Amino acid sequence: MTSLSASARSCSNIAFIKYWGNRDDALRLPANGSISMNLAGIETITRVEFRQELEVDQFILNGALADAAATRRVSAHLDHLRKIAGTAVKARVSSTNNFPTGAGIASSASAFSALTVAAAKALGLDLEEAELSYMARLGSGSACRSIPSGFVEWRPGLDHVSSYAVSIAPPEHWDLVDLVAIVSTAHKEVGSTGGHALAPTSPLQDARVRDAERRLDECRRAILERDFKAFAPIIELDALMMHAVMMTSQPALIYWLPETLQLINAVRAWRGEGLDVAFTIDAGPNVHVMATAANCLEVEARLKQQPGVINVLKARPGAGAHAVQA
Ligand code: DP6
Repeated sequence: MTSLSASARSCSNIAFIKYWGNRDDALRLPANGSISMNLAGIETITRVEFRQELEVDQFILNGALADAAATRRVSAHLDHLRKIAGTAVKARVSSTNNFPTGAGIASSASAFSALTVAAAKALGLDLEEAELSYMARLGSGSACRSIPSGFVEWRPGLDHVSSYAVSIAPPEHWDLVDLVAIVSTAHKEVGSTGGHALAPTSPLQDARVRDAERRLDECRRAILERDFKAFAPIIELDALMMHAVMMTSQPALIYWLPETLQLINAVRAWRGEGLDVAFTIDAGPNVHVMATAANCLEVEARLKQQPGVINVLKARPGAGAHAVQA
């Protein structure tokens, strides 16, 4: 093998039923299943070149050499794929996010799903979707959900090979829009990986996990039936339950800013007026405002008038990760 290369493209995703806490932190076996939507246009493109002459893996992120911690995480992920391929050859990985760094959009889902597809192809591994999904999960849990297309469910599984995500509906199934209201671009102090490890320290985590199957059933049904009236309360409940766990972890993780709470209240009031709109929030202060396409322009205009909203990104349901020519 002298030089084997491939490229892949993958969207980020937004979870409606959240992944928070692991049964096994090293394998990223989640405490509960989750449901998400891929975010079209919020993407990472990654090129992987395996080269005999390299002594170490190199990771270039948005055109600049990445820091040691990010390179180690990429390298550890490549090790999983190299093990399957039976090779030790090092790689040069170049990754570009088409969304601004520090826009408050988590990049690990699109990053590790694109890396998995590109590296597997470059190594000549012929992996099925489920295999790509559980391999992506080792890099970042939420990345397993960016492998299949559209609306996706990650069943928690019992072990490494049974913990992967599947599509429950294609992107065109429901014309939902995620309007991401950015209120801060600051780097978070405690990232998701550290947060997952703290989840068991909250006395509320057991109750959240015990009730997860019910929320998954409700959310899955609402998506399959395009029932926004049922979708809105279940995704808001799930996000609030995750943040209740975060806020009651030891140490407490409080990701919200005053603007976050203002947006929560605004979205609830707008729904009261009859708009199809609902919020969800990841491990940060920005608010993902879900709307039907019919309500999208109205909601976007209202969001832009809210105090503290720096920018609003828009994403429709997106495709799964796939190899590209580059
Ligand atoms: C709040 O997948 O980013 O966005 O597995 O440690 O990389 P790691 O964590 P990550 O966690 C996502 C947490 C979340 C909820 C979700 O996407 O389900």
